[in-house]
Amino acid sequence: MKTLREYIADAKAGGYAIGHFNISNIEGLHAIVDAARELQLPVVIGLSEGEEDAIGINQAVALVRSFREKENLPVFLNADHHYSFERVKACIDAGFDMVIYDGAEKSFDENIATAKQCVDYARACGREVLVEAEIGFIGQGSSIKETVPEGTGTKTTPEEAKQFVDATGVDLLAPAVGSVHGLIKSGKPHIDTERVKAIADITGIPLVLHGGSGLRDEDFTGGIAAGIAMVHINTELRVAYTEAVRNMLTEKPDETTPYKYGNAGKEAMKNVVLARLRLFSNK
Ligand code: G3H
Ligand code: ZN
Repeated sequence: MKTLREYIADAKAGGYAIGHFNISNIEGLHAIVDAARELQLPVVIGLSEGEEDAIGINQAVALVRSFREKENLPVFLNADHHYSFERVKACIDAGFDMVIYDGAEKSFDENIATAKQCVDYARACGREVLVEAEIGFIGQGSSIKETVPEGTGTKTTPEEAKQFVDATGVDLLAPAVGSVHGLIKSGKPHIDTERVKAIADITGIPLVLHGGSGLRDEDFTGGIAAGIAMVHINTELRVAYTEAVRNMLTEKPDETTPYKYGNAGKEAMKNVVLARLRLFSNK
């Protein structure tokens, strides 16, 4: 099987993107893997700090690895938006394939210093672990929001992206290019594809688009053509799961078997993942 670095390089060279989907429970994991298996595509499972606490750091590694070891499926595990070196280190030690140090809210210099510390630790750990970092404002929290949060217009400049990548040696970069985390009721801002291209060209590394939920198809396809090699989706899955479970329990209030209503949630999430993976991969 190829490494995650190779799958990402293939995506960048081929003009498509790998899907990154967050999970909060085992139904989410099965939904994503079922969709990726059906389409025969690599996929990255993401865990924020909260999602990781819910599932268990070692349990997440064992679950994701089981698909690679038993079925030879290219399913990888990422520590999504981890806010300290200590939490990133714990994920590298536990066996994650990829980590994201998110120092976007820190000063630029502090962000560089801790991202570099994460890169150094990953390089010395004895396995290949990819490190992503974030610069610029993308907002926080995969939830439903009334309007775009303040600061959304602030985008990463190509110059600061280059300075950051040169100083840290990160493998992937999440710049602020218009998207924000969450589903915005009044509509999401659009992706600045020219900015994506300028940052991709000047840094030369694969870029990651965060805050994918609710974006228009053209934003994804334009962003991917400009240099995005991985796309993050979370809120759409949370909404699909919660609505499906809520509907089933409303229809059958006496249903008390968790795997039965959980399965309704899983199928709803799988449909979201299938649609997003088809779009990102041109399949
Ligand atoms: O890291 C997670 C994502 O960027 C998800 O964003 O909730 O808007 O899909 P989203
Ligand atoms: Zn994100």
